[in-house]
Amino acid sequence: MDTERLHLRPHQPGDAGWLYRLYSNPEVARYLLDEPWTAELTARRLAERLSRTDLDGEEGALALVVEYERTPVGDVQLWFTDRARRVAEIGWVLDPAHGGRGLATEAVGAVLALAFEHAQLHRVVAMMDARNTPSARLARRVGMSQEAHLRQAWWSKGEWNDTLIFAMLAADRTG
Ligand SMILES: CC(C)(COP(=O)(O)OP(=O)(O)OC[C@H]1O[C@@H](n2cnc3c(N)ncnc32)[C@H](O)[C@@H]1OP(=O)(O)O)[C@@H](O)C(=O)NCCC(=O)NCCS
Repeated sequence: MDTERLHLRPHQPGDAGWLYRLYSNPEVARYLLDEPWTAELTARRLAERLSRTDLDGEEGALALVVEYERTPVGDVQLWFTDRARRVAEIGWVLDPAHGGRGLATEAVGAVLALAFEHAQLHRVVAMMDARNTPSARLARRVGMSQEAHLRQAWWSKGEWNDTLIFAMLAADRTG
């Protein structure tokens, strides 16, 4: 799938190197559920991503590499949380070296278009650590609405964390 500046594609076995470099960066991992990735965790997470090739396939999930000028710069994932009712969750990561130019906005916007216009989803949710301001700004920029601020609802990395819930409905796009 192509956007103005980006190419989005499924993962390949050769993606381990850049995934490891990106996800082992403590700055990137700070608000993610995983600790910074080790080589072993990279192999496991890549194996998961390799099977996430079709939202309506066996895994009920789609994991896409975001390429800018033929270089992988991040990934976006979409997975069913309620397949029967066509409700999914979305997650995103962009290499900070490529941040601040709207590339994540462009990639996530394209995946949301795919989710609603192609896959006919009813609702897409994004959940994030409430301290993750860049992620919340991204959710707002792509048109998602903040629905909740859950206080100390998630225990992660040795402390209670607040969680923000953003969502978009199919009806939000049609007006
Ligand atoms: C969340 C994350 C993807 C946001 O990255 P980002 O660089 O802020 O997002 P974008 O690539 O869309 O760039 C947006 C910024 O570029 C600016 N920008 C420049 N040109 C732009 C354009 N053409 N379109 C949109 N924004 C543009 C925007 O104003 C914005 O800057 P601002 O936030 O200072 O206002 C990134 O911080 C990240 O990967 N973090 C680590 C992983 C993580 O926490 N993931 C989320 C887990 S819930």
